[in-house]
Amino acid sequence: MSTSTFPRDFVWGVSTSAFQVEGATSADGRRPSIWDTFSADRAEACDHYHRYPEDVRLMKDLGMAAYRFSVSWARVLPEGHGKPNAAGLDFYDRLLDELVAAGITPYATLYHWDLPQALEDRGGWPERETALRFADYAAAVHERLGDRVDTWFTLNEPWVAAFLGYGSGVHAPGRKSAADAFRAAHHMLLAHGLGAQALRAAGAAKVGAVLNLSPVMTPAQVSDFGRELSEEDAEAVARIDALANRQFLEPMLRGAYPAESLAVAERNGGVEHIRDGDLELIAQPLDVLGVNYYTPLVVQAQPSEPADPAYPGSTGILFCTIPTAVTAMGWPIVPGGLSLLLRRISREYPDLDLMVTENGADFVDVVTGDGIHDVDRISFIEEHLRALRAAIEEGARVRGYFVWTLLDNLEWSEGYRRKFGLVHVDFATQRRRPKDSALWYRDVIRRGGLAETRPARPTLETVAARAGVSRATVSRVVNGESSVSAQVRESVMRAVNELGYVPNLAARSLVTRRTNAVALVLSVPRQGGDALTAAVVQYVTSLLEGAGKQITLMLADTAESHRRIVAHVEAGLVDGVVLLPPDRADTLAERLSRTGVPVVLLGKPAIASLVPYVDVDNAGGAAAATEHLLARGRTTIGMVCGPMDLVAVQDRLAGHRAALQRAGLGPRLALADGLTRAAGVSATLRLLGDEPALDAVFAATDQLAIGALWAAREAGRRVPEDLAVVGFDDVDAASATTPGLTTVRVPVADQALALARLLLSRLEGRHTTSVVVPARLVVRESA
Ligand code: FCB
Repeated sequence: MSTSTFPRDFVWGVSTSAFQVEGATSADGRRPSIWDTFSADRAEACDHYHRYPEDVRLMKDLGMAAYRFSVSWARVLPEGHGKPNAAGLDFYDRLLDELVAAGITPYATLYHWDLPQALEDRGGWPERETALRFADYAAAVHERLGDRVDTWFTLNEPWVAAFLGYGSGVHAPGRKSAADAFRAAHHMLLAHGLGAQALRAAGAAKVGAVLNLSPVMTPAQVSDFGRELSEEDAEAVARIDALANRQFLEPMLRGAYPAESLAVAERNGGVEHIRDGDLELIAQPLDVLGVNYYTPLVVQAQPSEPADPAYPGSTGILFCTIPTAVTAMGWPIVPGGLSLLLRRISREYPDLDLMVTENGADFVDVVTGDGIHDVDRISFIEEHLRALRAAIEEGARVRGYFVWTLLDNLEWSEGYRRKFGLVHVDFATQRRRPKDSALWYRDVIRRGGLAETRPARPTLETVAARAGVSRATVSRVVNGESSVSAQVRESVMRAVNELGYVPNLAARSLVTRRTNAVALVLSVPRQGGDALTAAVVQYVTSLLEGAGKQITLMLADTAESHRRIVAHVEAGLVDGVVLLPPDRADTLAERLSRTGVPVVLLGKPAIASLVPYVDVDNAGGAAAATEHLLARGRTTIGMVCGPMDLVAVQDRLAGHRAALQRAGLGPRLALADGLTRAAGVSATLRLLGDEPALDAVFAATDQLAIGALWAAREAGRRVPEDLAVVGFDDVDAASATTPGLTTVRVPVADQALALARLLLSRLEGRHTTSVVVPARLVVRESA
């Protein structure tokens, strides 16, 4: 096998679950599940129940070979038992026909956490009866769908369903009892055994189960897994491994509980519910084990630590946060954990076929006019596929990989804010849009693996040829010189992005020696930036210090200080630079990036540049503000712009214009000659003079907007009756004006955190691009 290919019959797919995508919670006789009760107001999900033909077409277009979905028990047996509801089964019948016609192999999961509420009302999983009901349910589903489904998974992630559902209570049904959690876990295992038996008896071709498994390690082992542990840490690791992984693996695959978890169960309500013969029933022969992997469990011994309610018996063990790049869920990104895990399972169970049935990531996606460029998700999946392939090369029997998940969907207790999808869903319209990751995954599937070698690195020449300009011009653009026209700069930057060109020096820094120091460079003063600067200093310092870096604070206020900073970085005294650039064009960022040391910026730079930055979505925020005014019936809207050499002002103007254009309106602008309230007063008076019918003002910043409120008073206009006013930034004073100012909130902490993480990712040599943090409209009385 060549290094980049996967076995020829490797299965490429995508996973979903019923409750997270279907919606239609009361259609065709379906009755509530515990998740309907637990999150009553928001179960419309992706309306997959009605839109499945579109979703199957989408999968077909993406070249998906397999679709792992789950069946809703509450559709099939609305009361949990009795006669199956034919209308509920009809949905899966239609779905399977559609899949088969599209050439997509279905993989069915019978239980993905949505227990019929009727069964919970009779005691739920802590009752043995529920396991018996599951076997009937499995048989009923197989009877109707067995002709088109080859591979059946009984349960998805019983640890989560038992210990978060009945132990910590953060999942449905929300109970908090360690005893119930252990009983639930045992009865889920029993349900698996009985269900597997029933499926087998009915002639199912392949039967498996899906477990959430995580390698367990100490913080020091994250980068060095072989590292020796103290006796206490080794005990902590073994105990959590028993509770999280072996408590499920061993009964299913060996017919016995690990002594450690059994001992904890004994102390928490006892083990009378484990009857003679249960373990033999549970240990049915399996054709495939589904492995869901997201992140490792990182722990260490800490005598004073109380037990975590999700892990009864974890007294004296600390669950650690580690300084690595994380997803938006805050889950550390550790691709190597996947190969560790797969190698271990194959070593311990050499005859068992494995499939990665879930792996994926939540990131903050920014929807732009030309698509959703979710490079972080692409990197995440790519790195995990490399880890998976490495495991196969070392002998792990992995037969397939399913991305979690097809669509942005209802992420359980986290609701809709989590975005795991390859495909973006606009929940107001149910419109689907494939993200870049979907198209990238399509290419992986088409190719049967990752690109052979990384494509030959694009050079200055390649970029010049693509953009149709000279090398010197490319170099001028890349180095941030301002002597290039905006149009040429744009076409060069497009070529740079399309080709993924990285200037040489940046890569070189990855192999140079580490100093463990990071420079935090502050330019002074930023417009309205005090709160932001303070937050950045706080987050960058604490996150990077947590990662073992020392912070050197440097002030960039004069040409001399710029020279000094560049010399410091050139001398190799720091591993990376966080730069709070000035509002107006200067070339410090580019000069620093040419040293080859990773640099990240706060705020989009005035000159198009390759240096990644974190910024707030200025255009999107301004569009939201303008759309709000339009929705309130305002038709004659003016904008008070600040100085146009400020990038944020340019972007806010662009967003304002775009929103007006969509409504068929044109802009009315007044330029303020500064960012003061007085400048806002005179610009607003000018707008009112030019257009007496003016009924709304959008100001580029809150200070200007406060000026607009004053001007309205001066001109005898009532706010909001005659004139609505909206600002931007949500400064403290905005809530104290009369009337309170409607404005756009710029999430300061999110930006600061993103900046620190961006630098960490770059220091780890990850592929990163700029981050745009969403802005949110805060509606108060002024509009
Ligand atoms: C897994 C679940 C799946 C989804 C992902 C993010 O634990 O099986 O439904 O919530 O996590």
